[in-house]
Amino acid sequence: MKPVGAITRGTTNPNRLRRVDNYVAYRCGDLLRAAAAPLVIDLGYGATPVTAVELRARLAAAVRPDVSVVGLEIDPVRVEAAQPRADPPLLEFRRGGFELAGLRPVVVRAFNVLRQYAEDEVAAAWTAMTATGAVLVEGTCDELGRVATWVVVEAGRPSTLTFSARLSDLDHPATFAERLPKALIHHNVPGEPVHELLQALGRAWESEATPFGPRQRWLATCRRMRSEGLVVLDGPARWRLGELTVPYPA
Ligand SMILES: C[S@@+](CC[C@H](N)C(=O)[O-])C[C@H]1O[C@@H](n2cnc3c(N)ncnc32)[C@H](O)[C@@H]1O
Repeated sequence: MKPVGAITRGTTNPNRLRRVDNYVAYRCGDLLRAAAAPLVIDLGYGATPVTAVELRARLAAAVRPDVSVVGLEIDPVRVEAAQPRADPPLLEFRRGGFELAGLRPVVVRAFNVLRQYAEDEVAAAWTAMTATGAVLVEGTCDELGRVATWVVVEAGRPSTLTFSARLSDLDHPATFAERLPKALIHHNVPGEPVHELLQALGRAWESEATPFGPRQRWLATCRRMRSEGLVVLDGPARWRLGELTVPYPA
């Protein structure tokens, strides 16, 4: 089977995806605990397999020790280079693309992959990665993982959008604009829902300046968004981490 997709830049970094690793454990933990074969794919792990190694370790600690992770890469050179880090059957590295190389994962995490594709390629990639019933967590972050956004996609359709940031570094939520998922980044213009959402988030943040530090400010921002009628999912336990999740249609 020919892998579906194209080789792109391989930039990655240790700890870059810690925020989304934590979210995968939270959002998909029950699904993985209930699965007979709790397989997670890290699609497009990049020049080194470090994010897949970390994902496996974090899920093993937070969800279940026998969770298995397969790093899939479309670049055969990167697949070969990753082999010394493999620990089969719990951690493997294989060649594959959006078709998932015939695997049937419970969860697919694809980070900083679609950002290098054209927007009109996103829907087909989402459909392919969820075709066997997996929950897809697809998003974008900065080089060090301090600012990230991601969508959860089920059966080809996005269900939620999450913003996540290291709060001590967050000057203003406008920063998220540069790191929106591919499906949204070109839609941050007046009249588009994601633009209205970022504007509302910015206004709430500006209104909630507090002497008690950025965490309290973010918590107050999330509460204010909710009190203004926006559907803000989850609650303070997630907000404290610098996260805010909304239903995608919002
Ligand atoms: C920028 S790196 C991202 C690395 C890592 N996920 C991260 O966020 O740090 C993107 C990687 O995705 C790979 N890639 C692109 N399209 C792919 C596809 N369709 N299937 C598998 N890997 C793909 C590229 O070869 C590249 O190594």
